[in-house]
Amino acid sequence: MEVRALREHDDRSLFRSGDPDVDRFFQQFAGQNQFRHHLGVTYVAADNAHILGFATVAAAHVEIDGLPSGARQKLPRYPLPVLRLARLGVDQPAQGQGLGVQLLRFVLGLALGMADTYGCVGVIVDAKPGAAGFYEKYGFIPVDAVEGASDARPAPTPMFLSIRAITDALGA
Ligand SMILES: CC(C)(COP(=O)(O)OP(=O)(O)OC[C@H]1O[C@@H](n2cnc3c(N)ncnc32)[C@H](O)[C@@H]1OP(=O)(O)O)[C@@H](O)C(=O)NCCC(=O)NCCS
Repeated sequence: MEVRALREHDDRSLFRSGDPDVDRFFQQFAGQNQFRHHLGVTYVAADNAHILGFATVAAAHVEIDGLPSGARQKLPRYPLPVLRLARLGVDQPAQGQGLGVQLLRFVLGLALGMADTYGCVGVIVDAKPGAAGFYEKYGFIPVDAVEGASDARPAPTPMFLSIRAITDALGA
């Protein structure tokens, strides 16, 4: 198994994470966003041609008010560079085997590289309601927990992990 950038010919049609939004994004939009529009890059955990999981990232920025109060100290008030973890999904038969956390650690490594090359104060993610616990486990802090508008489409929880916490987590 390797983690590598998505390739145009990768077969994404059989991928099912159990979340239809995540699956639709991966099957319909991840390729064009990466190869045509350059909106973000998707990394896949792949066993030869078999895709077991993916994480999509994009450069982004946040206003300081969008950070947890503990992470704001001494930062300026202009927009702050961050890496957005835009989507994360693991194919259902491969779930529960550590792949999700492996992809997350890969993304945290990308954030460290971004900090070293052109600046990054941390990683942000809009955690789906069922997934906030996954990110909390790895130190992400909810920024502005918002109640969902309805049970059918509850709002995600914006969460943040600082570059300092990432350095500690990766032992870098
Ligand atoms: C969330 C998801 C990516 C986790 O992937 P995974 O490969 O099953 O997770 P891992 O095996 O790496 O789990 C690592 C740890 O996180 C825990 N965990 C996994 N999913 C969790 C969740 N939804 N909430 C809380 N904890 C979770 C596991 O129990 C495990 O804990 P342990 O180390 O104490 O055993 C996967 O379940 C998935 O694709 N879900 C559907 C799509 C989705 O919700 N994506 C996130 C969108 S923001």
